[in-house]
Amino acid sequence: MSETTIGVTSFPTTRDSSCPFDPPAEYAELRAQEGTASLACPVGVNARVVSRYADVRAVLSDPNLSSHAAPSTHVVADGQLDRPVAPGSLLHMDGPDHARLRRLLTPEFTVKRIQAMRPYIQGLVDDHVDALLARTGPVDLVQDFALPIPSLVICELLGVDYGDRDRFQEQTAVLIGTNSDPEALQRANAEVVGFMTQLVLAKMAAPGDDLLGRLIVRARENGQELSVEELVTLGITLLIAGHETTANMIGLSTLALLRQPDQLAALRADPGLAGTAVDEMLRYLSIVHFGVLRQATGGVTIGDETIKAGEWLVAALSAGNRDESVFPDPDRIDLRRGATAHLAFGYGIHQCLGQQLARVELQEVFARLHQRIPTLRLAVPFEEVEFKDHALVYGVRALPVTWDVEDDR
Ligand code: HEM
Repeated sequence: MSETTIGVTSFPTTRDSSCPFDPPAEYAELRAQEGTASLACPVGVNARVVSRYADVRAVLSDPNLSSHAAPSTHVVADGQLDRPVAPGSLLHMDGPDHARLRRLLTPEFTVKRIQAMRPYIQGLVDDHVDALLARTGPVDLVQDFALPIPSLVICELLGVDYGDRDRFQEQTAVLIGTNSDPEALQRANAEVVGFMTQLVLAKMAAPGDDLLGRLIVRARENGQELSVEELVTLGITLLIAGHETTANMIGLSTLALLRQPDQLAALRADPGLAGTAVDEMLRYLSIVHFGVLRQATGGVTIGDETIKAGEWLVAALSAGNRDESVFPDPDRIDLRRGATAHLAFGYGIHQCLGQQLARVELQEVFARLHQRIPTLRLAVPFEEVEFKDHALVYGVRALPVTWDVEDDR
């Protein structure tokens, strides 16, 4: 495989002009030409991009490629690549340090533990559908449905008291919402850090039966007391990583399904399809859409190309998820495809820790929203929907929807 520079010199940041659900057209070109491309990334480095499914997996499982200096895929990049990594910042740790923290956290995200949250999540989805149906459309599905559900799930997970949930939700909504006022963001950030610090201190003093409490106890039992700073960073990582991604997936997948009436009808007729539907929509939409960035710490070989220490690589998840050699007819949504080996949650040691939780949240939304509101539809022309082209997590800024009043069920 040789380095190829196709007609692009800067990182493709807008999706295909003919379909806002498709990755930038340059990726298909790159995949066909076999090679990495040298591109200027939005975070201010020159990187090579891999776009084939097998290359993406190879990059994400290579121990000589580090996440240490890479800006988070989940937060807005600020171009500062050399800032020190905060203790507890799982996404930016490598090797034994990362493994130690991940091992402590993994028991919190087992299939069994997440399945135990399903009734709570079902109830939450139903309550939010009830609240929609108590109104008459149009409503913004992002503000009134897609954002609050994952936010409340994170509250439940972290053990935030019921009385504090409104305050917590308000602040995080500003932090991850569409507000771009830097002062408001800074204020919300300071409040969330303050809130998380109080929460962590309370859990350290009296650990309860919730994620933070159990984590503190587990670490103590292993002789690895976690610091306040580590716990606060971890809490905020979970909050942002688990909240923004899932919320964007709910909004964007609802829109994509509304545009595919045959697939939507199949889901409505058989809510049992929600399991495979969720994985197919994760593959198709690849919301971490610029992919993930890694820096070589030693020599790395991809095909017949050598990447030297210090050089950057982007694993383009959205491109790998449309690789026709793995997913036949990749640009088509097929809710029965069974695409569980997709790359939307990444791959390798940093593969999404919260993927079972995200799946359950999305499955409950897929199974209930369209069943209970069968006439759900866009309240504005499709062309007026605004997409988050330049955000690291792709989605819609707002989703005005409406329905027939007879849908009240
Ligand atoms: C890591 C995507 C939901 C927590 C990742 C990565 C991706 C991803 C691509 C890998 C990043 C990298 O390699 O640099 C998604 C998507 C989601 C989702 C598409 C929803 C649709 C969640 C949820 C949680 C979560 C619900 C937790 C509550 C994390 C954490 C990591 C991570 C902690 C870092 C793991 C590590 O570094 O070892 N996610 N995520 N994510 N995700 Fe998610």
